[in-house]
Amino acid sequence: MKLKQLQEATTFIAEKLQERPKIGLILGSGLGMLADEIEQPVKIKYQEIPGFPISTVEGHAGQLVCGKLNGSAVIAMQGRFHYYEGYGLDAVTFPVRVMKALGVEKLIVTNAAGGVNHAFKPGDLMLITDHLNNTGQNPLIGPNDPEQGVRFPDMSTAYDRKLQQLARDVAQSIQLDLKEGVYVWNTGPTYETPAEIRMLQAIGGDAVGMSTVPEVIVARHVGIEVLGISCISNMAAGILDQPLNHEEVIETTEKVRGAFLDFVKAILAKLA
Ligand code: HPA
Repeated sequence: MKLKQLQEATTFIAEKLQERPKIGLILGSGLGMLADEIEQPVKIKYQEIPGFPISTVEGHAGQLVCGKLNGSAVIAMQGRFHYYEGYGLDAVTFPVRVMKALGVEKLIVTNAAGGVNHAFKPGDLMLITDHLNNTGQNPLIGPNDPEQGVRFPDMSTAYDRKLQQLARDVAQSIQLDLKEGVYVWNTGPTYETPAEIRMLQAIGGDAVGMSTVPEVIVARHVGIEVLGISCISNMAAGILDQPLNHEEVIETTEKVRGAFLDFVKAILAKLA
């Protein structure tokens, strides 16, 4: 990560904003429309921002949307960068460092994930209580800049306990049956084999996906508190006797869009 790029991107964005965002939102596949509800939005296409990679995958719009959402000053990534697209993890996590430089204190990360836990069903929302990095990759490999964070960051509360409790309380207040569990990061782009899913069950995974963990690692490195929510878009490979595809993932996330929106907005109202 180049400090100059970080400064350039931060200045470029800050100049366009009336108010510094306090809460970052990273919106996963099929969940990007939350950003469409931001009031008086300032939209900045990724390709305009110095140092930003450009999003390529279908279902991802590729822009920052900044403004107010339910009383909170937010900066939302409508579309994120995935390791499987060929970006280095520096690029994947660059926007999180920019968020920190802009003043973000809390990050809400969302994703579409396969249900590994048999008790889940497609359409469920899962509070991420912890993660398993199943890739052997880490965005912090390389020289450490002590201005950004410590060499060996603690991951024992990667997902902030107070934010988890707030999410539980909000879910209860809107009668949302919020599931909870451990999110496993695999690189993708292949979905898993049934044997791999049995392994993930054995090692304590509840949901599996191809994102989120690198961003969370970097958020913790720079001292941002994290709340993670997965939309269970499908049951993982081998659980139901049917093939997996991206269309199903998008279809399910679109179906629960309403519930997801209400949930995140109610959380933001509590944080305002
Ligand atoms: N596996 C990995 N990533 C995913 C899945 C899955 O089943 N569903 C959505 N993202």
